[in-house]
Amino acid sequence: MDGAARAAALLRAGGVVAFPTETVYGLGADATDGRAVARVFAIKGRPRFNPLIVHLAEPRAAAAHAEVDRRARALMDRFWPGGLTLVLRRRAASPLSALALAGLDTVALRCPAHPLARELLARCARPVAAPSANRSGRLSPTTAAHVRAELGGAADLVLDGGPCPVGVESTVVDLTGEPALLRPGAVDPAALGLPLADPGDAGAPKSPGRLASHYAPATPLRMNAAGPRAGEALLAFGPAAPPARLSRNLSPRGDLAEAAANLFAMLRELDALGADGIAAMAVPERGLGLAINDRLRRAASRS
Ligand code: TXA
Ligand code: MG
Repeated sequence: MDGAARAAALLRAGGVVAFPTETVYGLGADATDGRAVARVFAIKGRPRFNPLIVHLAEPRAAAAHAEVDRRARALMDRFWPGGLTLVLRRRAASPLSALALAGLDTVALRCPAHPLARELLARCARPVAAPSANRSGRLSPTTAAHVRAELGGAADLVLDGGPCPVGVESTVVDLTGEPALLRPGAVDPAALGLPLADPGDAGAPKSPGRLASHYAPATPLRMNAAGPRAGEALLAFGPAAPPARLSRNLSPRGDLAEAAANLFAMLRELDALGADGIAAMAVPERGLGLAINDRLRRAASRS
């Protein structure tokens, strides 16, 4: 049996499997199996108030779990499969476990584009609840080696699909009321063609995940640095990087897609060097730069 077939069989039997998506690696369980989902929360150390994204093999599966209105359908048609997660009203008849949804009457759905993820989901023929495959509050993994470093042997299988091509998590948009951007990510929010409320705005719904600290390397990080101070490592961006003894460049040519793909791996590498701090150069606040800066801000705040 090949990896995807074995992984699908494990999921159907209530197992927990790490698998690649185009954004980051996920830690998956059958979303209709509360006991399997409970293991995902336990392995991650994730607070149970923070719901999981449910991954689907095909866009048409969404209607079994959520109320899909014309606005949602239009976004699915344009961006699925891909790095867009939609928060919709849950259908009462949906078999999704209440634990996966943290007891909410909404559900976050996504149809990933990675060929191995798609094969796994198709073979498994169940909705798969999958947060990023890291311990809660840590950097998301973008390689199978990162997953093993995060989880040790806690997952029943780690499906290795090589490095994730996008490298930052999906964009999360709440469509249960006025459209709201809950998390900038793989899909440029400007490309959605929606007026998006910031969830910080009064009245807009909040993503429970925003309450937790996220993406924290152990080494303190500061943003918009011109260069490293004594003892600091440099996370550079673009051709004008200053010289530094310990450094990684997200994209020497200043390309945001390349920078996103490198972000978590380079943060992990710099974090492992034992420097006093990480000085991160400015990244343009547009497109994937919005997602990169969001993750760097969270890494810098370490709240
Ligand atoms: O790219 C991704 O989205 C990756 C891959 C594996 O698909 N998954 C991922 O999952 O990043 P996670 O659990 O690390 O982040 C999911 C985010 C959390 O901030 C969570 O609070 C939010 O989505 N979320 C999930 N269900 C929600 C809901 N019903 N309402 C609001 N936010 C929700
Ligand atoms: Mg995560």
